[in-house]
Amino acid sequence: MKELSLHILDLVENSIRAKAKLINIFINEDIMNNFLEIIIEDDGNGMDEEFLSIVDNPFTTTRKTRNVGLGLPLLKAAAIRTDGDFQIISEKEKGTKIVATFKYDHIDRAPIGNMGSTIATLLSRVEKFDLVYIHQINNKRFTFSTTEVKEFLGEVSLNTPEVVLWIQDYINDNISTLCK
Ligand SMILES: Nc1ncnc2c1ncn2[C@@H]1O[C@H](COP(=O)(O)OP(=O)(O)OP(=O)(O)O)[C@@H](O)[C@H]1O
Ligand SMILES: [Mg+2]
Repeated sequence: MKELSLHILDLVENSIRAKAKLINIFINEDIMNNFLEIIIEDDGNGMDEEFLSIVDNPFTTTRKTRNVGLGLPLLKAAAIRTDGDFQIISEKEKGTKIVATFKYDHIDRAPIGNMGSTIATLLSRVEKFDLVYIHQINNKRFTFSTTEVKEFLGEVSLNTPEVVLWIQDYINDNISTLCK
């Protein structure tokens, strides 16, 4: 079973390839209502209606190096398997929003995985985009924003190895305090 954080990594990679400047990741663990929701939203190239109607088919890809694209179909399958839902809303030149919902306690619901390492992996790239990551567990919420971290760091680059490691721990520590 693939961890959900790895699906998130795949989807954010799509957003980066779509030249997004701002990527929003929202994870909502509403355990009291047995509900988990993952939303990834970007302001990248988007997709037109015709492409959208075929995009969750594994043979739909704009990659040149191979002719299958599995990021979206795999997350869709992971959500549907738990009696959840999957939705893509996209507009050409505006952006894309992916919403995946899961039944929280479903036996086939994959674990969330290591979000600190997922975000750190994304930041260690040189790409120029900003990212807001909001993780909510019941009524408690943690927000991580690259614009804020960049301001705090000043001259120091976000992809300095020490900074990347610090961000990874910072995120994981904050998520674990949400559970308490
Ligand atoms: N956020 C997005 N913005 C614009 N286009 C997107 C976005 N996400 C997906 N797409 C388009 O949908 C296609 C299918 O995406 P999907 O993630 O399923 O496969 P892939 O990225 O092509 O390959 P893989 O994920 O297996 O490496 C992509 O090739 C891209 O053209
Ligand atoms: Mg992909």
